[in-house]
Amino acid sequence: MRMSDLLSARIIALIDLFFGDTGKGHIVDWLIWLFEKLGDPVDIVVSPFGGPNAGHQFEVSGIKYTFSQIPSVVNPEIVRVCGNGKVINPIKLVAEMERLESAGINFDKLYISDKATIILPHYEIIDELLEIVRSANGEAIGTTKSAIGPTYGFRAMRVALEMKELLRLEEFQKKLEEAAWLPERMIFSLRSAIIRKYPDLESKILEIRVPDLDSVYNKYREAAGILSPRLIDSGKFLRDECDKGKRILIEPTQGAGLNNWHGTYPYVTGTGTGQGAMLEGTGLGRIDCRIGITKAYATRVGAGPFPSEIDEDDLFSQLIRERGQEYGTVSGRPRRIGHRDLTYEKHVCRANDVNAHIVTKADILDGLPQIRACVKYLHRGRITYEVPSDLDKHTVAWYRVFGGFMHKTSPQNYSDIHPNCRSFLEFGEDFLGRDLLAVSFSPERDGVVLKE
Ligand code: IMP
Repeated sequence: MRMSDLLSARIIALIDLFFGDTGKGHIVDWLIWLFEKLGDPVDIVVSPFGGPNAGHQFEVSGIKYTFSQIPSVVNPEIVRVCGNGKVINPIKLVAEMERLESAGINFDKLYISDKATIILPHYEIIDELLEIVRSANGEAIGTTKSAIGPTYGFRAMRVALEMKELLRLEEFQKKLEEAAWLPERMIFSLRSAIIRKYPDLESKILEIRVPDLDSVYNKYREAAGILSPRLIDSGKFLRDECDKGKRILIEPTQGAGLNNWHGTYPYVTGTGTGQGAMLEGTGLGRIDCRIGITKAYATRVGAGPFPSEIDEDDLFSQLIRERGQEYGTVSGRPRRIGHRDLTYEKHVCRANDVNAHIVTKADILDGLPQIRACVKYLHRGRITYEVPSDLDKHTVAWYRVFGGFMHKTSPQNYSDIHPNCRSFLEFGEDFLGRDLLAVSFSPERDGVVLKE
């Protein structure tokens, strides 16, 4: 796919090719800026799924911005939509708006789907209790404890509340009581069961209390006052805007490996993360083009298989973590570090019909003696070029090795990029069979170099 094809696409989706944290917020910001320069601007950015587990960081003119539940847009002219597939913590959303407003971001054009699911504090407690049990069994997922899995789970059980309930405050207290009934019982049962099975945990567990419903009601009612005017039927809104020919950018949260259906289950998030989930999570009927986003190296936060992971004590791992500031945006946890995994990326490109891709953070590899990329796995005694559906901690990555590179100044054009770096990038392009659109050498917009 060439730039001209990208320009003619009206609905563009980003697809995170690995385990999240590939720089999607930075690329959304850059694409908005690029389309603006090209005279055919982005009209709407929509976030289709996920919730406060996400954290998108990028820089504009030296100022660092962190978005979580809201699409990563600083330009007030662009409409931001939190789609129906999202799980929303109203209190955290209001706090995020206030934090960003004080940094100068205007939210006049922020809309939230009335069909998005409300996160209750009870769900956060269940997330925490389940992690305590898994941890005691040596199987912690390392969730962000933002209640993502439980909220999607309660929705699937049809006992959760949609955001539209915030519009009917006279009935909200009763709805809240009904919705809290099951999670309250679960919290009581889980607490007693954990104490019976793990008596050592008793004091820790007894500190975890069932939320007081009156206080939850009062806080959510306050948040409703701020959020209600923004609640819309976002599916209809997006389809209508699409019919008018508006340019829509879909900014997903999380990455392909965390896809609840296709990722490394159970070490995944609570929702799908691919293009299917983007259609469901926005209500749009089509996506014109899918751009894969990946880093020049790999990271993962939380537990689960990661074949190209580098040992925690390895100097390479420590160097990359510090240089790339690879710490979880939400949890602050150090991210696990590895080599770029082209085998995994190719699998994701095929599963999502990715048209082209962008590589971020290439500058972080500057000065390393050699660079690696995983091109196949050794899995259960056999070499495979595919991602096995039972990929696990015993799966071993096999690499192609490239010469290192060092840029004296940040490349402005593709031809300024060191030949070894270009070999690494172009090998990836051939391997994935998807055009390389651009490479990023800094968190700022002008650090992104177009290939064409
Ligand atoms: P949850 O989404 O909080 O349930 O966490 C499930 C898994 O997904 C954990 O391993 C998290 O570390 C990981 N995860 C969730 N959100 C993100 C993200 O935005 N970036 C990277 N990893 C994430």
